[in-house]
Amino acid sequence: MKHIKIGLFGFGCVGQGLYETLNTSKNFAGEITRICVKNKSKQRALPPSLFTYDKAEILDDPNIDIVVELIDDVPAALDIVTAALKNGKSVVTANKKLIAEHLEYLVQLQEETGRAVLYEGAVCGSIPIIRTLEEYFGHEPLKEIRGIFNGSTNYILTKVFKERLDYAKALSQAQEHGFAETDPTLDVQGFDPKFKLSILLTHAFGIHVAPDHIVNLGINRLKAADLEFARDRGLQIKLLAHAERIDDQVYAYVLPQFVNGNNNLSAIQNEFNAVTLNGDFCDDQLFIGKGAGSLPTGAAVLSDISALSYDYQYEYKKHYNLGQLHFTNDRLIDVYVSFDSPNDLELDDFASISANYFCFDRCYVLGKISLEKLTSEAWQKNDRISLIQLSEEDFDTSKALSITSLAAEIKELKKGQKIREKISV
Ligand code: HSE
Repeated sequence: MKHIKIGLFGFGCVGQGLYETLNTSKNFAGEITRICVKNKSKQRALPPSLFTYDKAEILDDPNIDIVVELIDDVPAALDIVTAALKNGKSVVTANKKLIAEHLEYLVQLQEETGRAVLYEGAVCGSIPIIRTLEEYFGHEPLKEIRGIFNGSTNYILTKVFKERLDYAKALSQAQEHGFAETDPTLDVQGFDPKFKLSILLTHAFGIHVAPDHIVNLGINRLKAADLEFARDRGLQIKLLAHAERIDDQVYAYVLPQFVNGNNNLSAIQNEFNAVTLNGDFCDDQLFIGKGAGSLPTGAAVLSDISALSYDYQYEYKKHYNLGQLHFTNDRLIDVYVSFDSPNDLELDDFASISANYFCFDRCYVLGKISLEKLTSEAWQKNDRISLIQLSEEDFDTSKALSITSLAAEIKELKKGQKIREKISV
């Protein structure tokens, strides 16, 4: 077996996890020969001779076979990956934003250079979902992918629901454990699972969809009243990524959702992730594993390095064979939306409303809204409202209330609001 020489970029949580898994594994023939880092003053646990601050010492070294990119600066990572491929080196990365935003370019570059880019560690940590989609499901039409694609938010929701821990404390624990991104808003606002979903759209349905086109709302806007609403009905809230094919169209989004105890995903706790697939032939499948953390993600990177040792490459089978599917946001979904003040809500954005509860503390409506509406600034940036997708089996949204009478009720409420403001002054 060939002894592989690896040049590593970045030595953070995942880089250190890779170092440990690689040196603990009994049957891996290879070593990290050089690590390129940015911060010269940081104390390192390894001999200084292993480190360099000059990327050329890895990229131009003919003795290095594989470049592993584990930094979180996307433009710099893109330069590194491009240079490595052009210099005849294959690449492993766990950088989901890089892959999601530049996948078309990277597929083309792999074709031109004949070198590979593997990125299993970028999606759901230790769950081998990309290779499963490529190899096992390469020829099976898939209907649906749904799951928990972010360890930090699942950890936070577990702590908040089970232990009634304060949201900020749960988030800082997720950061201490090394689950969260350097910028944790990427986790809590649902961007990180959206990057992962965008990557899986290519491997599951053969379509490249820029992350900007996919709706994502996170858990950062959830209020105590929303948690109580769920608890009162015996439900949990999970941040779920979801993609579904209907005829030749695929829609996809990341939203908080209510799940009941019968849903497989309700049992997925802490930093665990889960992916459920539904295929035309296999029906339902469920994959569970740790989605974040130094060793689980390091192990996924090691597995990719090992795959490169036998010249494995993604073939993007669905992309080349199934290219006729189209992405759409033209889809109605059932939602619960809560808000403090009636001024915060655009009633006209709803296709229908089936229930409402208006009071001074916190109001909510249940209704149907299109994904297209949710792409607007008003829904993406309005921190005063929170939105949770309804589980079909727990809520009947077939009833349609008159939006005109609701608007009238809201008008009354607004008057009431003014009275209250006067009193409190
Ligand atoms: N911040 C990510 C998460 C890390 O919490 O899932 C793994 O991609």
